[in-house]
Amino acid sequence: MSSARIPLIAGNWKMHETIAEAEQLIAALLPALSTVSGVDVAICPPFLALQAMVESTRGSRVQVYAQNMHHAPEGAYTGEVAAPMLTEVGVHGVLLGHSERREMFGESDRELAQKLPVALDAGLTPVLCVGETEDERERGDTERKLRHQVQEDLAHVPDDQLGDLVIAYEPIWAIGTGQVATPEQAEEAIGFIRALVADRAPEQAERTRLLYGGSVNPDNAAELLALPDVDGALVGGASLDATSFAAIVAAG
Ligand code: 13P
Repeated sequence: MSSARIPLIAGNWKMHETIAEAEQLIAALLPALSTVSGVDVAICPPFLALQAMVESTRGSRVQVYAQNMHHAPEGAYTGEVAAPMLTEVGVHGVLLGHSERREMFGESDRELAQKLPVALDAGLTPVLCVGETEDERERGDTERKLRHQVQEDLAHVPDDQLGDLVIAYEPIWAIGTGQVATPEQAEEAIGFIRALVADRAPEQAERTRLLYGGSVNPDNAAELLALPDVDGALVGGASLDATSFAAIVAAG
C-alpha cells in the first residue's frame, strides 16, 4: 500500500450482533486495539446497534459505518434509512452496494449512482463494494464487470470528490467461503479499479482508498495488505471475533 494513503480496516458485521452482543464485542475489541496506530478502523453494525456503538467508541480510534442507506433525505420508503438519520447519531460512513444487497435485495447500479453523491454530501464516507461472480471470472469477464460497476455507480460523483470515497473489491466467490483471492488476483483487480478512477481524475485516484474483501483472516491479512494498490480490508466473519479483527488491524 502507498504511504500516502492511511489504511482502513473495516469490519462488516452483516446481520449479526444484537445491541447487547455488540456491546460485548466492542468491549473486547477496544482494549485489543489500544496500541495500534497509523490505521483507520471502522465497524459496520446493524442499524439498531449504530447509536450504541457510536457511544461506546467515542474517544477511541474506531469509527462506525452503516451497512446501507437510501438516497432520499426522507419520504415514503418503508423500511429504509436516510443519510440525515445516520449522521444524526454520529455515523461516519456507509457501505454501499455490498454483493449481498445486490444479489438478495435487488440493489441496482442505478440506485447506487444516486446514493454515492448523497452520502458524500452528507459527510459520510461511502465504501462502494464491487466484484465478480465465480462464473464471470471463469468466463474472463472480471474486468468487464468491474468496469461496468465502477463507471455506473460513480457516474454522478464529481471528479474532485473521487478521492474521498473508498472502493472495496470483494470477489463474490471469496465471500464467506474461506477461498481468499491470491495476492496476484487481488492486486490485478484493485490496480484495474484504480486505473478506472484515474481515467476520470488521475490525482484523485492516488487518494482513493481501495480495500480487498473476501475471507480475510489473521493468517492472510499481512500479505494482502502489503500489495501496492491495496489500502485496507473489508472483513466479514473474522470481524465478529475481537482477537481476530485486532490481529488483522495490526497487520494494516
Ligand atoms: P468474509 O470476510 O466473511 O468472507 O466476508 C467478506 C464480506 O462480505 C465483507 O463485506
